[in-house]
Amino acid sequence: MCGIIGSTGEGATLNDLLEGLARLEYRGYDSAGVAVARADGTLDRIRAVDGTASLELLAELAKGKSEGYIAGLGHTRWATHGRVTTDNAHPHFDCSGRIGVVHNGIVENFRELKSELEQTGHVFSSQTDTEVIAHLLEDYLKHGSTLKEAVTESISRLRGAMSFVALDADDPKILVATKRMAPLIAGSGSGANFVASDIPAILGKADTFYQIGNDQVVVVSPGDIKLFDLSGNSLELPEIAVEWDLEAAVKGGYPDFMSKEIFEQPAAVRDTLLGRLNSEGEIVLDEMRLNPEELRNINKVFIVGCGTSFHAGMVAKFAIEHWTRIPVELDISSEFRYRDPVLDPQTLVIGVSQSGETLDTMAAMNEASMLSAKTLVVSNVMGSSMARAADAVLYTRAGPEIGVAATKTHTSQIAALLLLALYLAQVRHSIYPSEIADVYSEMIKLPQKIEEVLASDASIEEVAQSMVGIKRFYFIGRQVGYPVALEGALKLKEISYLPAEGYPAGELKHGPIAMIDSDAVVFGIVTRTRLWEKTISNVEEVRVRGAKIVLIANQGDSESEVLGDVIFEVPKTHPLLAPVLDVIPLQLFAYHLAVALGNDVDRPRNLAKTVTVE
Ligand code: M6R
Repeated sequence: MCGIIGSTGEGATLNDLLEGLARLEYRGYDSAGVAVARADGTLDRIRAVDGTASLELLAELAKGKSEGYIAGLGHTRWATHGRVTTDNAHPHFDCSGRIGVVHNGIVENFRELKSELEQTGHVFSSQTDTEVIAHLLEDYLKHGSTLKEAVTESISRLRGAMSFVALDADDPKILVATKRMAPLIAGSGSGANFVASDIPAILGKADTFYQIGNDQVVVVSPGDIKLFDLSGNSLELPEIAVEWDLEAAVKGGYPDFMSKEIFEQPAAVRDTLLGRLNSEGEIVLDEMRLNPEELRNINKVFIVGCGTSFHAGMVAKFAIEHWTRIPVELDISSEFRYRDPVLDPQTLVIGVSQSGETLDTMAAMNEASMLSAKTLVVSNVMGSSMARAADAVLYTRAGPEIGVAATKTHTSQIAALLLLALYLAQVRHSIYPSEIADVYSEMIKLPQKIEEVLASDASIEEVAQSMVGIKRFYFIGRQVGYPVALEGALKLKEISYLPAEGYPAGELKHGPIAMIDSDAVVFGIVTRTRLWEKTISNVEEVRVRGAKIVLIANQGDSESEVLGDVIFEVPKTHPLLAPVLDVIPLQLFAYHLAVALGNDVDRPRNLAKTVTVE
């Protein structure tokens, strides 16, 4: 997956492209590049490869280049086909160097297209799948097509999920873009019009934003944006209501996005819960497009997601089963559709995806729709591909998350999924209204309690700094503590690059305990649930084998505290809400350890925030 941007108009500047790319960096940063056109038809290309600093190098290389550009393309790459080299960096050109393309996604049939194009004389200068697009466009233009027609013909021949933007230096003011199962939006501003992978890339530059659908072609010119289907029919351009401001997309005084986003969790959870209870004390989910009758008929729930979103889904399984008594199955999105799941119209498949664009989850949801299940997506991005395709949507209101490691969207997802569980219970009358009210009143206390956890940031930082040099970490928990353990391990792995494993605490003795010795650090999630005693016994088992013990325990819980070498305290809450609080010390620990190790927490190696490849 990669980030793409294009701009055109008198006010279009190289700087707009560079700023846009900086905000798209979460989509990949193996290399970065721009191609910019002048009115006289000259096309300049600058490309940079420099580890995680490719965008900085690109900005450096672009310094001193005069403005006066009237259109351009920009790209930040997460490599899939072709090694990380300058030749493989986008934008890619055709043989003549007149047609530029930036692309996100994978052209699955690029080998066959490439050999076909080579046989007709095209010369390739990269190992990427993307370059076939530039040469295909070249062919169509040579045979008299306009750029719009050439893009339409080309996307019909390309297989896979992707979006791309093309520019022809012979008519550089016109940018043509298309998408299939990959994110792409357009925007109009006073001085220039834009197309980009997402909204933050052009926030502050465009003032109106538009949705581009799958297999649609958008033609962006200085004064106009037009949308077409693949038959060339003109379509209405759907506007996206954007509530984020520019400030939300920049660091706001924090050293990096990850710390900013960790500290935004009280607001993110508060906003996600806002206005969800009416004056009669009932849960209301305005965006819910499934009616109560349909929800009453559900007899099976599947939850699918990847990474951190999957962990939020694990918490939801406990809540939905407990409050509604509907059986819930959980699956990693990339496994779900290949296991021939048994679904029918009475099955509800819940996809959890902050971006709403993760290809594995999107494909799982499509499979569920095809098998006639009802689908509901929990997403942080209004109008994201999954939000539009699903039968129902529930938005988290965390604001844009830029750091690759998901933090505020995770706690907001759990909050949203708990609301959903209560809502299902309400429409099915499976618990008393008074219990719903009691849980909800605990939920709205969460933002204040998150503030209390965040107040221990400095002491968690000290502990993290004291653990530089530790080589192995284990995280254990039971019931809802288990997804917290997995999430704590994932956060640590992805930004510190250290081996970290999460286990159900009771499972350790079936094998993993063999790895425990005095070099290991074990985090135990021991906040009070009905399984507290059992979890504490599992902590004892690793303590007596010499491991250093860090406990996530409730404030003032002296019985737990005596067992830990280090205690991270969190306030008490309803047991099913506890993951929202318990995960926060683990986020802070992972953050501070990674910073102490000198790692770039916003741009961990080998990762991209939104994974739009299978
Ligand atoms: O956008 P999504 O929620 O669908 O993304 C899913 C995962 O790629 C994501 O949660 C990933 O695991 C996080 N970056 C981990 O911090």
